[in-house]
Amino acid sequence: MTLDLARLRAETPGCAHVLHLNAAGSALPSRRTLDATLNHLKLEAEIGGYEAAAKAHDELEGFYPAVAKLIGAQADEVAFVENATRAWDLAFYSLDFKPGDRILTCVSEYSSNYISYLQVAKKTGAEIVVVPDDNYGQIDLGALERAIDKRTKLVSVSHVPTQGGLVQPAEAIGKIANDAGVLYLLDACQSVGQLPVDVRKIGCDFLSMTGRKYLRGPRGTGFLYAKRATTSHIEPLLLDNHAAKWTDDNAYTVRDDARRFENWERYFAGVIGLKVAADQANELGMEPIWARLRELADGLRARLSTVKGVTLTDLGKVKGAIVTFAVDGKDHNELKARLRAQAINVTVSTQFSSRLDLKGRGLRDVMRASVHVYNTEDELDRFAAALEAAI
Ligand SMILES: Cc1ncc(COP(=O)(O)O)c(C=O)c1O
Repeated sequence: MTLDLARLRAETPGCAHVLHLNAAGSALPSRRTLDATLNHLKLEAEIGGYEAAAKAHDELEGFYPAVAKLIGAQADEVAFVENATRAWDLAFYSLDFKPGDRILTCVSEYSSNYISYLQVAKKTGAEIVVVPDDNYGQIDLGALERAIDKRTKLVSVSHVPTQGGLVQPAEAIGKIANDAGVLYLLDACQSVGQLPVDVRKIGCDFLSMTGRKYLRGPRGTGFLYAKRATTSHIEPLLLDNHAAKWTDDNAYTVRDDARRFENWERYFAGVIGLKVAADQANELGMEPIWARLRELADGLRARLSTVKGVTLTDLGKVKGAIVTFAVDGKDHNELKARLRAQAINVTVSTQFSSRLDLKGRGLRDVMRASVHVYNTEDELDRFAAALEAAI
């Protein structure tokens, strides 16, 4: 199956206004997702929020199977959460770390996750172990295998980092963690919607995800996957009257599905919007999306490699839809602003998001251009020309 590129573009209102190369920040949603979100907000205003939720019951419930289908899970293994960080936190902070427990992670790890490791290490005496990269710049699988020991409590990595095209070998990491009987938390914030993600094949116990990036959902949406077979005994750090029932004056029981990680109150229009975005990804198919994104990203890398002063900075054996580069002697933020003035959206990734990786490579920051299915080869030409003119 191939994608109908003209139609995808026509059904993305933002394409008429911007040359958007910031899908890894927040992608342009489709008209269908936008309408579904807005229609629910309107319905809330017209008939009342609770009444709108009751009327949209089936659509809201449809969120769970739609996301489950996308990632190869069961519907009762999915929880709606407002963003990837909170979804990840809900899994991570619900684990009971003891002094000496080891958390294994990777060099390219996302800053918020690493801050949480530091906090938990400080509070509990757990240890953080950063597994080195191999020659491709992805996690060294041999080193990971050797680092796992009896004290290892968790393997926790970001599938695709914020600061580049690297795609970590999530399945191979899962095999190592599963063979050792160690829990595996995968931050899939930048990967779901970009490439095929199958939680059964990957073997992760938890997976966190955001709505606004490669899934093209509304901002303020995301989800947590919690594998029933391995995590149903884990009680969430935070409970409310949706996650648990107050069964006696001094007793409560916790839900046994992944929704025990949810709040009672949430962004209902966002749930519907994200459901529609997941439906669309399922309808288009993740294999064709991934093939097209790689074609676009490789094409962009090829164009940038001919621009004088530009050095590509993406790592990895497999490179995805996030293209990063450095420009000799130029202030990246200034270049970003100059492009923005021409309605071209790119961003700058800094050590703020990934200290170990960028600092280790001697990079203060990199420019980031991230493609999605609505981008065209013409746009890539236009971007490369605008960048060259700005340098
Ligand atoms: C790898 C990774 N994890 C987590 C996040 C945070 O996602 P959110 O802003 O949805 O919490 C990001 C955001 O860029 C990211 O790149």
